[in-house]
Amino acid sequence: MSEPQPHPHADLIAAARRAAQGAYAPYSNFPVGAALLFDDGEVVAGANVENASYGLALCAETVAVAAAMAGGRRGGLVAVAVTGPRMAPGAAPITPCGRCRQVLNELAALGGTDPLVLCVGPDAVQEVRLSALLPMAFGPASLD
Ligand code: THU
Repeated sequence: MSEPQPHPHADLIAAARRAAQGAYAPYSNFPVGAALLFDDGEVVAGANVENASYGLALCAETVAVAAAMAGGRRGGLVAVAVTGPRMAPGAAPITPCGRCRQVLNELAALGGTDPLVLCVGPDAVQEVRLSALLPMAFGPASLD
């Protein structure tokens, strides 16, 4: 019997898991990690940051995009891994919330890529293109 092959994006998934350890999520107890892979191999990660004013929570994906863009990134987004805390068998993989889909779309659209989103669950990693998560997206070109 051959060994199961590691996931092709195992390093990116591991980066998202590591990032989740930095989450500030005392209100939801739902730490999330996100890791962005760029076309030059760099990975930029983020975790959710909550607030005593609950509605002001920042999602992991948004924090990661903000970090990348503050570091000068304007496109080149190849893949995104998102991990959540529910890892009991049968739990659903975590998918980016609607706002994060829009935030990811801005960075992706700047470079004309359609990143692969890796939604990490306990049993499987669900892979979906951002364009499938956010069809008919409103983006930078919509303002032209
Ligand atoms: N959260 C994320 O970080 N990303 C998502 O895509 C979904 C939700 C966070 C927000 C909040 O801190 C916690 O998960 C529970 O909703």
